[in-house]
Amino acid sequence: MKVLSSIVALVAASSVSAFAPLATPSSRSVVTQMAASEELYIDDERRFIMNLIMVGAGGLTVLGLGVPYIAFFVPPGSGGGSGGVPAKDALGNDILSKEYLAAKPAGDRSLAQGLKGDATYLIVKDDKTLEKYGLNAVCTHLGCVVPWSAANNKFMCPCHGSQYAPDGAVVRGPAPLPLALAHCDIDEASDKILFSPWTETDFRTGEKGWWN
Ligand code: FES
Repeated sequence: MKVLSSIVALVAASSVSAFAPLATPSSRSVVTQMAASEELYIDDERRFIMNLIMVGAGGLTVLGLGVPYIAFFVPPGSGGGSGGVPAKDALGNDILSKEYLAAKPAGDRSLAQGLKGDATYLIVKDDKTLEKYGLNAVCTHLGCVVPWSAANNKFMCPCHGSQYAPDGAVVRGPAPLPLALAHCDIDEASDKILFSPWTETDFRTGEKGWWN
């Protein structure tokens, strides 16, 4: 009797397995490949998004560093409509011509901040108007700032004794070259004094400016 019940159980088990879905090695392989390709697809999508983020972040970094870097080499004020750089006083304020000329005597040569931040002399003419050029105060010998001596009517360098005429021409060495020129104009609308590069002939030598 026990043997008979075992036989019945075996037959039942074999009939169940006969109707069960076939899971052959090849079908498992297809399922595995599909899952893998799906994962691959998701990975590609993630990689694409990561690349976008990285490119975006890289672009922002380049812009963040590049713009100030380029701006550093653009002369201040060159983008303005006036085309000049405002002359500034010792405190960094723009100098206004009416106020300035009212305060300075005829023949005055006082320093202002000029092109590229160089110390530059503003010259008040005898008729109390502003000279059309400014003089860079850097000595052409070894670069000391040259003071104006009103008593001697000359620029006199304290470092090695070079002397320059009131228009910046060399009157005594060792300075080899005249003081550099810059155009000096008044912007009528704002009353600001503006410096701009002197690219023409140097009127003191009749030659091209050495600073160009
Ligand atoms: S630096 Fe002016 S004379 Fe030498």
